[in-house]
Amino acid sequence: MRRTLVGVDLLVLGDETGVMAGALTRAGFTVATGEVPAAGADRVAAILAYRVVPSEAEPLRGAAAGGVPVLLAGDALLDLAPDSPLADDAGLLVGTGTRRHEIRVRLGPDAGELAARYGPDVVLTDTWAVPDKVADDVLQLLTANLSFADHPVCTWRPSTRIGAFTLGAAPATLHDPRYQRLVVRWVRLALGLADGPPVGVGMLGFGAIGAEHASAIAAVDGLRLAAVADANPTRQQAALAVAPDAAAYAGANELLADDAVQLVVVSTPPWTHAEEVVRALTAGRHVVVEKPFCLTVEEADAQLALAAKCRRTLAVYQNRRWDADFLALRRAVCGGLIGELFHLETFVGGYGHPCNYWHSDERVSGGAVYDWGSHYLDWVLELVPDEVAWVSATAHKRVWHDVTNADHTRVLLHFAGGVEAEFSVSDLAAVPKPKFYALGTAGAVVGDWRTERVVSRGTTGLLEEDVLAPADAPARMRLVGADGSETVLATPPALPQPFHRELADQLLTGIPMSVTPAQSRRTVAVMQAATESARAGGRPVVPQR
Ligand SMILES: NC(=O)c1ccc[n+]([C@@H]2O[C@H](COP(=O)([O-])OP(=O)(O)OC[C@H]3O[C@@H](n4cnc5c(N)ncnc54)[C@H](O)[C@@H]3O)[C@@H](O)[C@H]2O)c1
Repeated sequence: MRRTLVGVDLLVLGDETGVMAGALTRAGFTVATGEVPAAGADRVAAILAYRVVPSEAEPLRGAAAGGVPVLLAGDALLDLAPDSPLADDAGLLVGTGTRRHEIRVRLGPDAGELAARYGPDVVLTDTWAVPDKVADDVLQLLTANLSFADHPVCTWRPSTRIGAFTLGAAPATLHDPRYQRLVVRWVRLALGLADGPPVGVGMLGFGAIGAEHASAIAAVDGLRLAAVADANPTRQQAALAVAPDAAAYAGANELLADDAVQLVVVSTPPWTHAEEVVRALTAGRHVVVEKPFCLTVEEADAQLALAAKCRRTLAVYQNRRWDADFLALRRAVCGGLIGELFHLETFVGGYGHPCNYWHSDERVSGGAVYDWGSHYLDWVLELVPDEVAWVSATAHKRVWHDVTNADHTRVLLHFAGGVEAEFSVSDLAAVPKPKFYALGTAGAVVGDWRTERVVSRGTTGLLEEDVLAPADAPARMRLVGADGSETVLATPPALPQPFHRELADQLLTGIPMSVTPAQSRRTVAVMQAATESARAGGRPVVPQR
């Protein structure tokens, strides 16, 4: 029976696994699946077809003629006969499909809106239909090279309202987040939806992490550093040195009085986060807050509720999700290379005096568990999505009595399904443990710390050596098989400015970020439970749900 598609934004055909329907739904579309509706008998805004059965070709042409964009994806063009009027309307004379091979997808001459935040070439392994001829009025949005000639892989023909994206036949392509993002942007382009002007960013606090945000904002299309507020005039000057066009203020109230600021990056010390986030959300701004999100679950819940009420984006800067060594570990664990993960340890530290700055003052930082744990426990919780049944922590205060952070803390997490994880942070570890130690039912991954040196010549020609702290270099990742065999895992390069790209995408196109504040709330719940447990001598504490 034909479904009634009243009020539906997007009809998706032939997406058997529902992967693309899911991606488009997350990006804000109302998606229906089913048959091609009769032309004019619905309110479908666009049709995305991953297959075209012969009986649908004419209704699709009719829909396009009636003003509904028709987007042919994956193998859909190859479903059509070479002389098909639908392919003709697409402006493409379809040749043959290629064999499965690595395809380097590049921006085409007419990329337009697809060019925003594209980054390095998207590389996919798939088959594709190489057009023998392309009509002059077809916009070539994306291209790929075959036999030393560029051919369109993604097109849009405004005169007929038909486009083609000839990639997406392979399941791996459909699951690739960068492919999904391109499809969303292609659909938006066909619907005439543009990104809108750049989002004005105001930074509250321009300390050690300030330059990282400023350079990412400058590099990412759709973000613009409009203003900086810092109580310290020297830090205001440091901000103006890298962003001379930004306004400079002393505090949050002046920053929030500036209409050019639509998003606030809260990068003040941790104990101020909750108050400053609430202040910015209440003033109608989107917010990025530095890690740790905040110090208590109650604070996290209040911020999440307020962001939902105000319909504003709230994001936590979990930038280490894209660390190369963690990406290698995640790829190995999620790819089943060690079987079922059941034991995971992470460690950071060494033997040395902690810094005499707020990081070492637990009233400001929340303690060492918060300072590093907001990254390391975030990694643990990303790898083990199961519910945390209880947390137990022990802390030692033995040597560094001039600072308030514990000298050595061990946090044990016990998950409902039996998986165990441990995070240790230490300033008393003369011998460091590996950064990562993951045991699975079929093997293990070990991440060994590296001590790297930057070697150069000084102005007088003498050798100069800069020794990096171990935490400043990605760990060397070893995959160890059940038979003892060892493989060094490649550490995949991440996209440049991955967090800020996702942020701009979410704000400007609705494509959701991969890091969510709900995930960071879970990390805060574990850190809070660990702090409570350590005060109680290691008593198991159930993190707040
Ligand atoms: N994600 C990361 O990898 C990473 C790395 C470093 C720091 N951080 C986080 O970033 C935040 C800031 O750390 P940092 O190292 O830049 O600290 P910092 O002490 O170097 O800088 C903080 C700045 O905030 C200013 N400030 C403090 N309170 C203020 C207020 N109420 N109004 C205006 N300005 C105020 C200070 O003058 C200072 O310049 C912390 O939450 C920290 O945990 C994250």
